[in-house]
Amino acid sequence: MKKKIVIAGGTGFIGQQLALWYTPEYEVVVLSREVNGQNNSYNCLNKMNGSIRIVHWNGADIDKWSEELEDAEMLINLSGKSVNCRYTEKNKKAILDSRIRSTQVLGRAISLLNKPPQLWINAASATIYRHAIDAAQDEQSELLQNDFSVQVCKEWEKAFFAADTPVTRKVCLRMAIVLGNGGVMVPYTNLVKAGLGGKQGSGKQMFSWIHMTDLCRLIDFIRDHSRLEGILNASAPMPVRNEVFMQTLRKICKVRIGFPMYRWMVHLGARIIGTEPELMLKSRWVIPARLCDAGFVFRYGNIDKALDDIIRKR
Ligand SMILES: NC(=O)c1ccc[n+]([C@@H]2O[C@H](COP(=O)([O-])OP(=O)(O)OC[C@H]3O[C@@H](n4cnc5c(N)ncnc54)[C@H](OP(=O)(O)O)[C@@H]3O)[C@@H](O)[C@H]2O)c1
Repeated sequence: MKKKIVIAGGTGFIGQQLALWYTPEYEVVVLSREVNGQNNSYNCLNKMNGSIRIVHWNGADIDKWSEELEDAEMLINLSGKSVNCRYTEKNKKAILDSRIRSTQVLGRAISLLNKPPQLWINAASATIYRHAIDAAQDEQSELLQNDFSVQVCKEWEKAFFAADTPVTRKVCLRMAIVLGNGGVMVPYTNLVKAGLGGKQGSGKQMFSWIHMTDLCRLIDFIRDHSRLEGILNASAPMPVRNEVFMQTLRKICKVRIGFPMYRWMVHLGARIIGTEPELMLKSRWVIPARLCDAGFVFRYGNIDKALDDIIRKR
């Protein structure tokens, strides 16, 4: 009989790739708020592979879905309203609540099972670290900032670690920006193609990233290394400055001209397209110290190789 993996919030950018990564070796169950599959990602996932089962939940209350966790090898929770929006009071509440509630209800569900999952990986974000331009941040670094997105990350992790799941190993994955077919690569390549692929702001802010394939591989690695638990940074070992990221993307897309977007342009543009300038301007300088110490080897360690692979596959 196949082993089971449950992916909560698995209809999104990362979840779809993980679902494909683990099928057909595993029975993959995706928990989604969709009832009859009207959302596009849900439909894509459904069409992509018949062996992925999509089970309804509301991300907040225990219901029949929780039986799916019985005897699962791994639970991966990716649920949360996208942060790619304006931080209005309404959106801020939804961003926070969607992460806390889904994490709490999964914890409660696990505590009621006869055979709880062996491993629970909860998404978290490398945004928890401060705007760093002087030094790389690893899992030991102090969390000095306290703006809205950092507060969300802290509350999210607190909810995760508060869950009492004595026989389930828990890993909190502080992910850097995930590069793959979709996600942030869409707006960045659109900017490059429009001739606006220069640096954003000063361009000196650090861009920490991870290739989607390495994210899937490191989840395998965590599964196979039972001593790994707690907080892990999921980011490639060689982050780059924003200006280097944009320059590399222009080179790979074969676009020679890239006008810079000054700080005020980023602020204006973000307002127009309904997002926050922080997503482009914050300096995220994060390294995967614990994974490297544990012996994980990245396939896409440098940005040239990662972007070349992603753009070629598109
Ligand atoms: N992508 C990145 O670069 C990155 C980096 C760091 C951290 N992360 C975090 O990793 C997680 C997954 O990222 P992603 O890029 O795959 O995100 P995504 O594409 O936005 O997918 C998130 C999933 O969460 C579910 N969701 C949305 N609103 C929800 C709500 N109010 N309550 C419960 N579930 C809700 C949705 O599933 P249904 O609509 O089917 O329920 C959606 O498919 C997110 O929490 C994100 O913050 C992502």
